[in-house]
Parts: sequence; structure tokens; C-alpha cells
Amino acid sequence: MSETKFTPRVFSGIQPSGGLTLGNYLGAIKRFVDMQNKGTFQTVYCMVDMHAITVWQDPARLRHNTRELAAGFIAAGLTPEKSILINQSQVPEHAQLAWIFNCVARMGWMGRMTQWKDKAGKDAEAASLGLFAYPALMAADILVYHATHVPVGEDQKQHLELTRDIAAKFNHDFGVDFFPMTEPVIEGAGMRVMSLRDGSKKMSKSDPSDASRINMTDDADAIAKKIRKAKTDPEPLPDTVAGLKDRPEARNLVNIYAALSDTTAEAVIAEHAGAQFGTFKPALADLAVARLAPISAEMSRLMADPAEIDRILARGAEQAREITAPILKKTYEIVGMVGA
Ligand code: AMP
Ligand code: TRP
Repeated sequence: MSETKFTPRVFSGIQPSGGLTLGNYLGAIKRFVDMQNKGTFQTVYCMVDMHAITVWQDPARLRHNTRELAAGFIAAGLTPEKSILINQSQVPEHAQLAWIFNCVARMGWMGRMTQWKDKAGKDAEAASLGLFAYPALMAADILVYHATHVPVGEDQKQHLELTRDIAAKFNHDFGVDFFPMTEPVIEGAGMRVMSLRDGSKKMSKSDPSDASRINMTDDADAIAKKIRKAKTDPEPLPDTVAGLKDRPEARNLVNIYAALSDTTAEAVIAEHAGAQFGTFKPALADLAVARLAPISAEMSRLMADPAEIDRILARGAEQAREITAPILKKTYEIVGMVGA
């Protein structure tokens, strides 16, 4: 199937289910900004509140977290002039297409998703039906825009493969060439930011130790302190990236440095070969503060005026529906729904 008939369009989403970490910033938001500024793509970025409620969310917290995530997007450099910024539930075509996809996707496909297995845990019977169907809604998020590229962290790769499976099965079942085979975009040093306390675990907002992560709302002092206290080993930095093998904590700090300064781990090692952590950590802390403190300050400024955030999201939803309404209408026609 030809991919050229589709407008180059990027879609990605983040759940408003808690605070943002440096992992979300380097693995997702910073790359969203880069793709926006490249100018090659139309870009659509989404707070996926309907995905968030697949596990319990306190309503007041959900509202707060959705606005805070929007503030994080904007503070990091996404602008409503260049990107369509939306909250998922405000663009009803996502949920409408998701229902069609619930009827295309197979139970067996969903049951194999590692995120489902991790999140449902031992008691899958007690998990919500929404949690099981989560990847079909994610496929709908993407395909209701005919998005061609999706920047995500490595943990989302399996869901992107499933999105292609759903698109292919829909096209095959109805004998059409309607949905594109979306490409995941998984690249760069920020793809796997690890915990500052344990280099084998992902940096996560759900880690009980606050010292394990840098939160996007941390101030300069907190950021610097967490980096100074980050777990490392006693060796100086090696002179090749290969020398970081079996040194997960050292490798993580080098990767974070590389992602924050828009360069590669190779370049960081070339510059800091032989450095002790006593000198590398303060350099990293300065860099992190220089990059993150302005974002966190801008987030607080934006959060002081939630009505302005709501206006941006309402406008984004209108722009989004110009794309999604015709694609959903065409889907309904293909499926045989009267009135489409
Ligand atoms: P989550 O907060 O887990 O819903 O993730 C939102 C986005 O941030 C996804 O694209 C993830 O892949 C990305 N992300 C989350 N944590 C990390 C991490 N530690 N390293 C890199 N990317 C991450
Ligand atoms: N599942 C993604 C995550 O947990 C969030 C998400 C929902 C998403 N819909 C999407 C990401 C569409 C990319 C494209 O991070």
C-alpha cells in the first residue's frame, strides 16, 4: 500500500495521570517539540484523559493533571500556533472510532499486550474492560488523524505494532486502502531514562522514592540535589561508550546529559572521558537546571490562569475535528452505517 497518499502528520499522547518526570520530557515532550519545529509534519499532541480513567482517577485530580500536562506541553515549547493541542475527551471521534476498532481487534491480540499484563497484574478479572481495550482506543487516537508518524518511548512499541495490525485488518476486511501503516519514531538518547537510584528501573512517576526521579515541577535546588545524590559507581567515565556496558547508572547519567544537550552519548564521552563523578555530576546538574528550571517556572505561571489553558484546548478541539470528523464519516460509510 502506498504511504504517499497520506499527509505527513504526527500524533502522540500522554496520560494526565500524575506529575511529569524528566523521563516524560526527554522520552516524549522534547521530541514532540523537535518534530513540531522541523516543519515537515502537521503535529497533533493530546492529553489522553480517556486512557487515564482505565484505572481509577479522582475527578478533581484528573482535571488538575490534565491542565498541568497541557501547561507542561506549552512550557516545553509546543505552541497552539504550530501544533494542535487537545484533550482526548473533547474530540469525540476518538471514542467513536475506538468502538469500531473494538470490533476489528481480537481478544487474543489484546491479551498479549505487556502493558495490559503489567497493569492488570494477578487479578485480571478485577481490571476494567477499558484497560483491556486500551490499545484499540490508542489505535483510534492515531488513525482518526491518518497519522503517519508517532513519537513514543520504547515501552509503547508493542502498542504501535498493534495499531498497524488493526489498520491492516480493517483495510483487508473491508477491501479498502483507507488507514495508513503508521511509523513509530523511537530514537535518541532520551528513549529510556532510568531511575536515579537504580539504573535497571525506568524513571517513573509511580516510583515510591522521590529521589529516583526529577519532576518537571522540581525547583533548581531539588534538581541539583537529586543529581548530586544519584547512585553511581566509583570508576571515572570511560573513554568509549562501550566502556559503559555493565555500568547502568553511569550510562544513564551520560544519556541524560546527551539528551539534555541535544547530542549523542558518544559526544558526551568524548568530552568527559576520564572525568570523576565529582566533576561530571555538577556539570550535569548545571545543565539540567539550565534546561528544566525555565520550563517549571513557565508551568507555574500558566497554571495560575487555568481559563487560558481551557481556551487553548477548546480551540485545539475545534481544529482537530476538522480532520477527525471527515475521517470518521468515511469510516462509518465503509462499515455500512446508514446516515454517514
Ligand atoms: P507515561 O507517563 O508512562 O504514560 O508515558 C508518557 C510518555 O513518556 C510515553 O511516550 C513514554 O514512552 C514516555 N516515558 C515515560 N517514562 C519514560 C522514561 N523513563 N524514559 C523515556 N521515556 C519515558
Ligand atoms: N499509551 C501511551 C502511554 O502510555 C499514551 C497514548 C495514548 C499514546 N494514545 C496514544 C501515545 C497515541 C501515542 C499515540 O504513554
